[in-house]
Amino acid sequence: MTATIIDGKAFAAKVRGEVAKHVARLKEEHGITPGLAVVLVGEDPASEVYVRSKGKSTVEAGMNSYEHKLPADTSEAELLALIGRLNADPAVNGILVQLPLPKHLNSDLVINAIEPAKDVDGFHISNVGLLGTGQKAMVPCTPLGCLMMLRDHHGSLAGMEAVVVGRSNIVGKPMAQLLLGDSCTVTIAHSRTKDLGAVCRRADILVAAVGRPEMVPGDWVKPGATVIDVGINRIERGGKTVLVGDVDYDSAVKVAGAITPVPGGVGPMTIACLLANTVTAACRAHGLAEPEGLTA
Ligand code: GUN
Repeated sequence: MTATIIDGKAFAAKVRGEVAKHVARLKEEHGITPGLAVVLVGEDPASEVYVRSKGKSTVEAGMNSYEHKLPADTSEAELLALIGRLNADPAVNGILVQLPLPKHLNSDLVINAIEPAKDVDGFHISNVGLLGTGQKAMVPCTPLGCLMMLRDHHGSLAGMEAVVVGRSNIVGKPMAQLLLGDSCTVTIAHSRTKDLGAVCRRADILVAAVGRPEMVPGDWVKPGATVIDVGINRIERGGKTVLVGDVDYDSAVKVAGAITPVPGGVGPMTIACLLANTVTAACRAHGLAEPEGLTA
């Protein structure tokens, strides 16, 4: 069997198109232009690339982008003061503080200073609690993107056996909550799980989010399973730097029923969902109906 390739790039383009349509409608019918503020502290080159890409995509969707670049030695008080101003600014519907922050800043404290309704990353403890209790939350972008692709591929996920490898706050834990919300039977596995291969082989839906290149081999995949590879790892191969996932794609593609490639799978969905969350936040801020199909 050769797996269906789930084309995240094409799916993300579709989501971005839907976001742009909602934005156009908000402008025409209500005079509202949603705004996303992205805060970057320091000069990490990878973070700078992400932030530039987020800003560009925001503008392409017809929204306002506000970039705040602060020096690496910014104090916690200065950063918290900026977040306070963004919380109070009605033109700003979404606030994203790019992680990781420089070591002298307490990320938990900073994230929890964001107004939960503007927390488009879904990292604020209020949003974590709302998601965990099945209430209306802002949902972290990467797991939301994975959920959208799974729903698109399968329709209902009810009753499916899902295994999430990785227990991060950004992907693993919220992914598990979303799958549980869609009535999957969910296992969260991690580096200390005993016989990880046997656990993975139970999965109808296998989500790999560990950040270790090609850690999941094809013989951990149940024949016909859907494999969602969240990993984006840069490795040296044949004298070149290449991008690989957390799944060994070449062996897994022969066993899986469907699989997301790296690159071109989950990655493009993350920014698409950030835009979707910004529109959702703008609609909620103005008491308007939320865009359908763009939220959990
Ligand atoms: N750094 C890497 N991924 C992310 C993300 O999804 N959100 C934020 N805020 N920072 C990140």
